[in-house]
Amino acid sequence: MVRPAVAADVPRICEICAAGFAASSAGLLPARVVAARTATYYDRERVVAEIGPGPAGWLGYVVAESGDSVVGAAGGSVVDRVGHLLVLYLDLDRRGLGLGTALLDHVSGQHRTSGATHQRVSVTEGNEMALPFYRRHGFEVTGHEPFGAGTDARSLVLERPL
Ligand SMILES: CC(C)(COP(=O)(O)OP(=O)(O)OC[C@H]1O[C@@H](n2cnc3c(N)ncnc32)[C@H](O)[C@@H]1OP(=O)(O)O)[C@@H](O)C(=O)NCCC(=O)NCCS
Repeated sequence: MVRPAVAADVPRICEICAAGFAASSAGLLPARVVAARTATYYDRERVVAEIGPGPAGWLGYVVAESGDSVVGAAGGSVVDRVGHLLVLYLDLDRRGLGLGTALLDHVSGQHRTSGATHQRVSVTEGNEMALPFYRRHGFEVTGHEPFGAGTDARSLVLERPL
């Protein structure tokens, strides 16, 4: 089941996102960059502040539950009719069960309701934990951009119509 996140979900959201980002960045991004991004984006105070809809079209976090446990988290925004998928992570041992698809479907519904006509996601080049998933859902690479943070890494930009 996927539902909007509440404040009590914040510790699990931070854990899941930090672990998923670290695992999917291994060998692609320097550890110092992973640590810095994690400290910035998956800091509990920040996630508390961002738990619901906010500025810049942010639609709030959503979580996937299995039994009583939060096992995945996602979130997106809509800017100029583009639905941005900004966060999508699962507990690593819950992959391959359709939970990622359930989270993507939920955020896609939010995107449509907010007027988006297509979706965009940025994925670190070489992230084979995520790229096949997005291709399976009809996303195609439309460009790339520097990852930044003093690395040579690139992010691929993938898009699909909604
Ligand atoms: C990406 C992620 C959210 C996908 O969630 P998931 O629940 O494992 O994916 P699903 O079970 O819904 O899979 C949907 C389809 O994609 C395919 N797929 C998913 N990940 C795949 C992979 N790494 N390689 C090949 N196929 C994959 C599945 O086989 C399935 O295909 P099917 O419909 O033909 O059966 C999850 O694997 C994850 O958290 N990865 C690590 C973190 C990450 O990289 N997040 C994205 C940051 S941009």
